[in-house]
Amino acid sequence: MGEGQLEAYGKWVVAHAETHLPFVAEVGGEVVGAAWLHIAERVPGGGSLDRRFGDVQSVEVREEHRGRGLGSALMAAILAEARSRGLMHVTVHSGRRAVDFYLRNGFTHHRQMLLWEP
Ligand SMILES: CC(C)(COP(=O)(O)OP(=O)(O)OC[C@H]1O[C@@H](n2cnc3c(N)ncnc32)[C@H](O)[C@@H]1OP(=O)(O)O)[C@@H](O)C(=O)NCCC(=O)NCCS
Repeated sequence: MGEGQLEAYGKWVVAHAETHLPFVAEVGGEVVGAAWLHIAERVPGGGSLDRRFGDVQSVEVREEHRGRGLGSALMAAILAEARSRGLMHVTVHSGRRAVDFYLRNGFTHHRQMLLWEP
């Protein structure tokens, strides 16, 4: 990422701090992995105004640090946060190779979650 892009990215992160929570994995003080929890709101319903849910995004661990549980630790931290905030559910749009990773980390396939893509 170039310097200008990095600055724009940083501004985006600050502007979205309420809705997009970053999680990082550190080894020896160095960030080697990250994941995001996007918190969104459903329209009020079922007698409740507070119907927030989460979406996991941009999960990545540096290649040389993979396979040691860092990705699972990031997911555990995200799901603990989701639980403590009382989110209704958490979704993830997985990459093709990461489906089993999410299945091992608490996610399940759901018949009623449908996706439209342009
Ligand atoms: C998916 C990913 C975050 C897992 O991180 P991690 O720190 O290796 O996770 P863990 O150590 O907890 O679990 C590793 C397991 O994930 C599997 N895995 C899933 N996707 C993988 C990928 N793209 N590359 C390597 N391993 C992957 C490994 O095979 C391993 O399985 P095993 O335990 O049966 O050997 C990491 O592999 C990654 O950054 N991949 C590239 C980006 C990506 O696919 N992100 C998710 C898309 S939404």
